[in-house]
Amino acid sequence: MTDAVSLPPSDRDRGATILRYASRVRVNHWLGAIAFFCAALSGLSLFHPALFWLSGLFGGGPWTRILHPFLGLLMLILFVLLALQVRSDNSMQPRDWAWLRQIGDVVNNREELLPEVGRYNAGQKLVFDAVVVCLTVLLLSGIPIWRVYFSASFPISVQRLGAFAHALFAFILITTIIIHIYAAIWVKGSVRAMTRGTVTPGWAWKHHRAWYRELITDAARSRSRTD
Ligand code: HEM
Repeated sequence: MTDAVSLPPSDRDRGATILRYASRVRVNHWLGAIAFFCAALSGLSLFHPALFWLSGLFGGGPWTRILHPFLGLLMLILFVLLALQVRSDNSMQPRDWAWLRQIGDVVNNREELLPEVGRYNAGQKLVFDAVVVCLTVLLLSGIPIWRVYFSASFPISVQRLGAFAHALFAFILITTIIIHIYAAIWVKGSVRAMTRGTVTPGWAWKHHRAWYRELITDAARSRSRTD
């Protein structure tokens, strides 16, 4: 049986757009992305002498040392604000596990064989969860190594463990964000969602069909209510 969504959007929909992100979400996202790059680059400059030259971006070594924890906190606050707006669409559903089991079809672009995807796919949801875990560990491990305010309150063993966990989870977060950026560029039309805020019906149908179906059903329902 075919329904309204089993066929791609028709020519009639050409030029039509669907709102995916309101401007406040986009501003929140891009400020968070800038804060991430500043926190990551300042952190890398403190991590290894070979990367110390990066501290020039922040006014030299002492300034980098002062600024880095505050940049990290800013990134955390901006992510929490963003997460509050998108978290309801990021919980794993049974169809997401099926999608993950077919990861071979995902990377080989055989999207027609995959289960229908909601507003976010399982990969996006796992990236979201990984960012939540990394930022939590970075905050908890950052406190004992924030010398000027807190280190004196912790034994040296906790400070050492903090330094190790901080470096490890910073590495995982940077890797995760590289994957996030790669996926955003790989799925054509996604970056536009976060810059202009809109996507085409064809994009929604191809990549997030269950979400598209919900939008069509809601639109039909509100039309019949006003008729
Ligand atoms: C240059 C860097 C970045 C680029 C190009 C980028 C690109 C994008 C794009 C295109 C989307 C929309 C995807 C869609 O609607 O299907 C998106 C969503 C999102 N981004 Fe980014 N992003 C960047 C950095 C970051 C950073 C640093 C974080 C967090 C620390 C982040 C967290 C998110 C979240 C939470 C979403 C909502 C989707 C979801 O929950 O999976 N992004 N990003």
